[in-house]
Amino acid sequence: MTDARIATVRLGAQGPVTGVQGLGCMGISAAYGPTDTGRARSTLERALELGVTLYDTADFYGSGENERFLAPFFEAHRDEVVIATKFALSWHPDDPTKRIIRNDPPYIRQAVEASLRRLGVDVIDLYYMHRRDVDVPIEETVGTMADLVREGKVKHLGLSEVTADELRAAHAVHPVAAVQSEWSLFSRDIEARVVPAARDLGVALVPYSPLGRGFLTGAFADAARDLTAGDFRRHMPRYSGDNAAANAALLAPVRAIAEAHGATPGQIALAWIQQRAAVDGLTVVPIPGTRSPDRVAENAAATRITLTDAELARLEPLAAEVAGDRYTDMTFTSAGRE
Ligand SMILES: NC(=O)c1ccc[n+]([C@@H]2O[C@H](COP(=O)([O-])OP(=O)(O)OC[C@H]3O[C@@H](n4cnc5c(N)ncnc54)[C@H](OP(=O)(O)O)[C@@H]3O)[C@@H](O)[C@H]2O)c1
Repeated sequence: MTDARIATVRLGAQGPVTGVQGLGCMGISAAYGPTDTGRARSTLERALELGVTLYDTADFYGSGENERFLAPFFEAHRDEVVIATKFALSWHPDDPTKRIIRNDPPYIRQAVEASLRRLGVDVIDLYYMHRRDVDVPIEETVGTMADLVREGKVKHLGLSEVTADELRAAHAVHPVAAVQSEWSLFSRDIEARVVPAARDLGVALVPYSPLGRGFLTGAFADAARDLTAGDFRRHMPRYSGDNAAANAALLAPVRAIAEAHGATPGQIALAWIQQRAAVDGLTVVPIPGTRSPDRVAENAAATRITLTDAELARLEPLAAEVAGDRYTDMTFTSAGRE
């Protein structure tokens, strides 16, 4: 493992320059079980040393807690980091298991002010619509986001889990720097329509869950058996029971290729995305999530691995064989609406 800084890239035609890999911060405050906050803080610092400059959060993660947790780090390093956050999702006040999606202008205005306050900054570098509220025309949502750019509250715009048509309609209103969607060896549905649209428009892709929420690293084999009670992955169709057993068997070629490179399976999963995107002529900045300084270094080092054509061909069939959807409700994703 080397301490060399990772390369940089521009996110979208007019977007910010960031490291070629970012850091997903969600797990620090939500979804993946208890966090050692001291270790999480060290992870942020270690990431920055390695040139990982794009930090991904959302107002939804821990209902504001994730943004608050990151604020002191951002204050200490404001000029070195690219801060990405999101609006649209919240928990239903009467049912804490039910998500609400809102894209209407008054909601966006209230959400951006709350995020700026929690993050302790006067401008957000990259502001994403986290999920699509199909009752609000996308032009209206992006029109309001564009107003935030003009008002100096936001620098660049992003969209998460949009369809290709939604991306095109949004981009016609205001340039979109990045689309964030799940993309990994196990989740390739966006390659059919979203990826070509992003490439044609000069929009970057920010793949989330590039490690298959940890499953591709081999860190757990069955979520219901191996993970703690509050862990969101226990409710995801592909990570427990028969599906998990079938999907774990698919990791054999990933492990074999990792061994050939003296690398880990997670590094091969990350290297695969960088190379897959290059084939499509896309700019890509995956945001693996971790709360471990050692893992952030391991993940960053994956940007220096090059897979052979034969290895890429061996990995090609995996996604089509995965058992179980990537969410319980697929209308929560672009593929579910296409
Ligand atoms: N736009 C959206 O709707 C959306 C949805 C989901 C996620 N996201 C964003 O994308 C980011 C990344 O996605 P994700 O966190 O869901 O999934 P991920 O990056 O695929 O995987 C994260 C999991 O892998 C583990 N991990 C990370 N590096 C590892 C390594 N080298 N070896 C072994 N295990 C490793 C982490 O554990 P430790 O933390 O314990 O290291 C964590 O449990 C999130 O943090 C969030 O910012 C966005």
